[in-house]
Amino acid sequence: MQIFVDTADLEEIKEAKSWGIVDGVTTNPSLIKKAVEKLKDKGMEMSMEEYIGEICRAVDGPVSLEVKGIKSDDMVREATILYEKFNHINNNVVIKIPISTAMNEGEELFEGVKAIKELSEKGIPTNATLVMTPCQALLAAKAGASYVSPFLGRVDDYIRERLGMKFDKWDIFDGKLLRSIEEKRREQKNSYDEASWISLSDEGIYDGVELVESIIKIYRAYNYKTKIIAASIRNAMQVRKVAEMGVDIATIPFKVIKEMVSHYKTMEGMCKFTEDVVDEYRAIFEQ
Ligand code: G3P
Repeated sequence: MQIFVDTADLEEIKEAKSWGIVDGVTTNPSLIKKAVEKLKDKGMEMSMEEYIGEICRAVDGPVSLEVKGIKSDDMVREATILYEKFNHINNNVVIKIPISTAMNEGEELFEGVKAIKELSEKGIPTNATLVMTPCQALLAAKAGASYVSPFLGRVDDYIRERLGMKFDKWDIFDGKLLRSIEEKRREQKNSYDEASWISLSDEGIYDGVELVESIIKIYRAYNYKTKIIAASIRNAMQVRKVAEMGVDIATIPFKVIKEMVSHYKTMEGMCKFTEDVVDEYRAIFEQ
């Protein structure tokens, strides 16, 4: 499984790269905003163009940069600008296009799909983003997206919000548990309850991890070449579950990559090993 770092913070990108396990970077306008705020706080003077150029230079793997437009023509134009400005630096730019740019009922739904199709015909690699359902992922693949980004954490948030659950952004959510509770309730009541309605309206998906499982199944069934990036990851358990499924890539926030390597018993073990080094053993290294 490839690991991308889900950040636009150059310091984080460089540090993660120094660990030797980073294969790419994903950014979006919210992550860029966060990075810009940090830069301003630090009083660093670098133009946005120089900064993005530095990100592209820092990693030898795909760097996703997102368009800001809503209409397919605008997105294609912006994608071309991003590609021309930054791809020559390290030949690694991928353009992130939202699968659908509609923000209200009644608005055009297929602008993202159209833009992905046009860019794929032009040979510009795309990453279909904001993907929340298997059917959106199916459309992304049909349009020729190079990558698809299902948003695990946001799917979990959506389901929890609709169930009226209280949760923190980084909390673990287990859709399998929800499914079994719901099945029990259904057996008892012999009818659909509110929870069933919530899951059915999301194409029967109970959590973000299950969304990835479904996309893997669909892509394998038709041999689609689009690579799956598990995105909006909130904890190491999600990483473990999508890795078990054989997902192509997980794009992971800096803090979750750190969580992946940490364990209380590893630290405790290190304390003990360090304490137990005897002089005879230490001497070997002093020669
Ligand atoms: O990769 C997409 C990601 O940046 C969104 O993450 O935590 O804001 O849902 P999050």
